[in-house]
Amino acid sequence: MHDTLHLIDRPIAGARLPMGPLSVAIVGATGAVGIELIRCLEDRGFPVGELRLLASPRSAGRRLPFRGGEVEVKPLGPYSFDGIDVALFSAGATISRQYAPEAVSAGAIVIDNSSAFRMDPEVPLVVPEVNGAALGAHRGVIANPNCVAAILTVALAALNRAHPIRRIQAATYQAASGAGAAAMEELRASTAAALAGEAYAPKVLPHPYAFNIFSHNAAVNPETGYNGEEEKVVAETRRIFDAPALPIGITCIRVPILRAHAIAASVEFDSPVEVEHARALLSAAPGVRLVDDRDANLFPMPSEATGAEEVLVGRLRTDISDPSGRTLALFIAGDQLLKGAALNAVQIAEALRT
Ligand code: A2P
Repeated sequence: MHDTLHLIDRPIAGARLPMGPLSVAIVGATGAVGIELIRCLEDRGFPVGELRLLASPRSAGRRLPFRGGEVEVKPLGPYSFDGIDVALFSAGATISRQYAPEAVSAGAIVIDNSSAFRMDPEVPLVVPEVNGAALGAHRGVIANPNCVAAILTVALAALNRAHPIRRIQAATYQAASGAGAAAMEELRASTAAALAGEAYAPKVLPHPYAFNIFSHNAAVNPETGYNGEEEKVVAETRRIFDAPALPIGITCIRVPILRAHAIAASVEFDSPVEVEHARALLSAAPGVRLVDDRDANLFPMPSEATGAEEVLVGRLRTDISDPSGRTLALFIAGDQLLKGAALNAVQIAEALRT
């Protein structure tokens, strides 16, 4: 675990962003999430005064579109954060550990999409619709959750508020985007090769990706048998729900989908929950779109979730494996790059201004 944050020359706890135009930095601007961060800022009319795009020296000089013009990518380095109000980091945990303290020292508030600080008790881990109040305790860095944890907690928050959750059992169907732009390209290229009858040697992911699924590529903990992704989802979901001992079982699987994750979940509540009641709660839940048409056999799909800001929730039914009626089965789909990453980060920045 890192030990850098206590060294930071911190801004005042709970500092807010000023209401006028802001200087915004994106670290990892050329990556799959970085590109979506730029789009989200533009689409949501975030008050960007200056946009500073930062990436590795490999990308220096590239120009990325923003508001009808182009912004040149600069190499990340010393002084990258001078004059920046808010820095959105999405270049991996190593870069965040190294540069987030520098950004905070330079006076910026950091919203970090990596796993570097997510379990640091001094760093709030925030999904605005679920635990937005936790933002008040930040000390310069706010962590953006793992994509599955963000999508899962948005989907379940309204149900959890009405009927506290006692246990979650889930399996995921995770898209390429979670492994970055290169994995998305590997899915395209390996599928094209398979369709052409050509061989394709995997470069980014450990197994053939076209027309295949495999256990999530995060390393497996030999003691528990759970992989790193599964451990993150468990720990972060507990933290976001402020339920440190919530029992959660999960199996994370990579599927050949470009950018929307799906989750099949069985959720036990503290009391029986009628399906109709759950539908009503989900219909009114912020950040959620109920997609639950039994007649049409229409339920959440990655194709519908792609590009959508809402998390799609449906396939609601009483889980017949629990005769008490306290357990609901449901299916969830959410855009990994949006609610699972960029959109949530921009929503955190928005919440810091209201
Ligand atoms: P670059 O494109 O120059 O390599 P993804 O998650 O899609 O793979 O994207 C990772 C992002 O992190 C990219 O924008 C990438 O920039 C950036 N990145 C990787 N290594 C560094 C580094 N050493 N310094 C700054 N940015 C980096």
